[in-house]
Amino acid sequence: MKVTVVGAGAVGASCAEYIAIKDFASEVVLIDIKEGFAEGKAMDLMQTASLNSFDTKITGTTNDYSKTANSDVAVITSGIPRKPGMTREELISTNAGIVKSVAENLIKHSPNVIIIVVSNPMDTMTYLTHKATGLPKNRIIGMGGALDSARFKYRLAEALEAPISDVDGMVIGGHSDTGMIPLTRLATRNSVPVSKFISEDRMEEVKLETKVGGATLTKLLGTSAWYAPGAAVSAMVQAIALDSKKMFPCSCLLEGEYGLNDICIGVPTIIGANGVESIVEIELNDAEKAELTSSADAVRKTNGLI
Ligand code: 2OP
Repeated sequence: MKVTVVGAGAVGASCAEYIAIKDFASEVVLIDIKEGFAEGKAMDLMQTASLNSFDTKITGTTNDYSKTANSDVAVITSGIPRKPGMTREELISTNAGIVKSVAENLIKHSPNVIIIVVSNPMDTMTYLTHKATGLPKNRIIGMGGALDSARFKYRLAEALEAPISDVDGMVIGGHSDTGMIPLTRLATRNSVPVSKFISEDRMEEVKLETKVGGATLTKLLGTSAWYAPGAAVSAMVQAIALDSKKMFPCSCLLEGEYGLNDICIGVPTIIGANGVESIVEIELNDAEKAELTSSADAVRKTNGLI
């Protein structure tokens, strides 16, 4: 499998590193506009190959999309990250143009590519990629919910004082500080509902900590996070490579699912060799439905800015 990662910044390089270490791809091409940057990152990563025991070949290129030709999967991380105090939505004026141009360049050289969008505001950038490329809807996937769910599990494990391996939970809705929906009602500790162990108040705290998980890190780091975003998207690429039919909450183009149309927003999705294999419609209670409606309204508002 050939994977292109657009953007050799922290998220892109982490994604490339995790893909290489998992060793399921034959080739990863890192591409960036900054002269020599992707080449340097790729060479540095390749010098870990003997230490981390992988055979994946990582190469870098400065903005030469011919080097990305015939990619099976392409990950778009390019654009600016947010600074402390910024929302993801505030990045749209800079990132929309970058993502559109990147998507158009990618499909020129890889007409059969599956695109995973990471750049923020991610739900809107995913929608923009659909509009810009006209690819079949199963071949464009937004990565947000996989990351948010990982943060949700981290916070749940903290509250439960349990190992993360015992915890399961999913976040749907928009990938935004206000729009994401950690499904606390469905979260479990080794198949037992978490409500058995923690109070409603503590679950609300977990929900809030999850929603601002990205902003919390941006405040600490001075820029957006990169390890967990890189790991989340590498897990999705692996599910495509191995045709795992693994379920992630992903931002997909909805055409009536959850009563929503012509919008990309986080919903439970089966990921396999075809990209989006199917969208899973789970029963939401009235409160969750109201949260999803509100989240979708906010995504549509941001979509209106592109
Ligand atoms: C995050 O939440 C970058 O949106 C990404 O960290």
